[in-house]
Amino acid sequence: MTEVPKPVTAHELLKMKERGERIVVLTCYDALFARLLDASDIDILLVGDSVNQVLAGAETTLSATLDQMLYHTRSVRRGAERAMVICDMPFLSYQVSKEEAIRNCGRVMAETGCHGVKLEGGRPMAETVRALVDRGIPVMGHLGLTPQSVHALGGYRVQGRDRDTAERLAHDAKALEEAGAFAIVLELIPAPLASQITRSVAIPTIGIGAGPACDGQVLVVHDMLGLNDRFAAKFVKRYATLAEDVREAARLFAAEVREGRYPGPEHSFEK
Ligand code: KIV
Repeated sequence: MTEVPKPVTAHELLKMKERGERIVVLTCYDALFARLLDASDIDILLVGDSVNQVLAGAETTLSATLDQMLYHTRSVRRGAERAMVICDMPFLSYQVSKEEAIRNCGRVMAETGCHGVKLEGGRPMAETVRALVDRGIPVMGHLGLTPQSVHALGGYRVQGRDRDTAERLAHDAKALEEAGAFAIVLELIPAPLASQITRSVAIPTIGIGAGPACDGQVLVVHDMLGLNDRFAAKFVKRYATLAEDVREAARLFAAEVREGRYPGPEHSFEK
């Protein structure tokens, strides 16, 4: 009998932090990638609203919709057995009021089968996080460079370099922890600040461009696979060069079709 893998839970992530085991997170937007990443023991598949940039070609995440996130999260959930699946709530689906946040996050949980949601923001979102957690919805926070606020932050730049912002981020992390968040993404902040925040909270921190001291790391899967080779940032390490493989395979296919070399007899039916 094949063993069914034990799903990763918020409780298990806490234990991992306590044991000093690193948490591995990748973004994921469809069932096929979910199957591949699940089989590679990725702990959390984050259905990031970055899907709006990576797959839909938009400039920012701001125009991602709830329907878009429902569709992608449902797909990812179908491909995942062990990994925890988290849906990134799109801009304006949780900021307007606690009631709307509960309705929209609840809808995501009920209609996709995902295991939790992610929201951007610190202290100003704490009451909303508490309301969601009290209603049984696990929440992952997101601090630092919060892409839904890119215009207010003046671009995609490192946050928390000055003392005031660093202190605010440290307080934001405590506020999210107190509100019941089960983990916090720290995006684009200096490594020493991420280290300080990681030590100051009992819940896991998941870094992206936040140095090595975080309890886990997340990357956009298309970036780390070298599929999205137009995006190059200091914090991205490419573990493959798939964009070149795709271009090369497409060139070869085109050449073989044009030269009448594909399909061959082995790809054809005689009757
Ligand atoms: O949308 C996303 O992919 C994210 C991660 C990069 C943290 O929020």
